[in-house]
Amino acid sequence: MPSLKLLAIAGSPRRGGNTDLLLQEVSRGAKSGGAAVKTVFLSELSIAPCQHCDRCLETGRCAIEDDMQWLHSELRGADRLALASPIFFMGVTAQTKAMIDRCQALWALKYVLRLPVATNDGRERRGLFISVGGRRSTNLFQPAIATVKSFFKTIDVIYSGALLFPSVEEKGAIARHSTALGEAFLAGQRLSED
Ligand SMILES: Cc1cc2nc3c(=O)[nH]c(=O)nc-3n(C[C@H](O)[C@H](O)[C@H](O)COP(=O)(O)O)c2cc1C
Repeated sequence: MPSLKLLAIAGSPRRGGNTDLLLQEVSRGAKSGGAAVKTVFLSELSIAPCQHCDRCLETGRCAIEDDMQWLHSELRGADRLALASPIFFMGVTAQTKAMIDRCQALWALKYVLRLPVATNDGRERRGLFISVGGRRSTNLFQPAIATVKSFFKTIDVIYSGALLFPSVEEKGAIARHSTALGEAFLAGQRLSED
């Protein structure tokens, strides 16, 4: 059986920040369980926002030629996803939302053209959401979770849970949390189980 493929998506513009550190631990945990991990940093890619041109409704392919073209292939071929984004104004970051919106092409593939989205070898596709927010407000993570669930459903990934940490503001503060990085490692290990 080939190694399970985990696509780790870093959605924060802050390299080495809190969600990056959590994602790193999830990846380490997944690797320790035998997964092959590929990490993408969205802020380093060129991903324009969706223009709602509707051309994907006819072709299943996005008309915008940028990094989203190869990222579509990675998203379709992965067995597991770990999507990390801090909370920005109660939602995911602009970088993350741009990527998700550009998956309208995969929505078209699935719901309009009735073609399969997943191109992996038939393994169940599962995804984990990782997030932090500086505040501790009620429902801090709910809007982002709703967005991520909708995204995962569209690309045929089962939402398998989330690692969510409120009151984490400054860069690297998550490293001082008593359990967060350990939880992330274990979540990565679980994600790598068949
Ligand atoms: C533009 C912007 C908007 C933010 N909005 C929120 C928010 O709505 N709620 C919150 O709890 N924290 C908010 N934060 C704080 C970040 O979520 C927090 O600093 C987090 O630790 C950043 O994670 P990172 O280090 O992975 O980038 C915001 C930060 C920025 C820069």
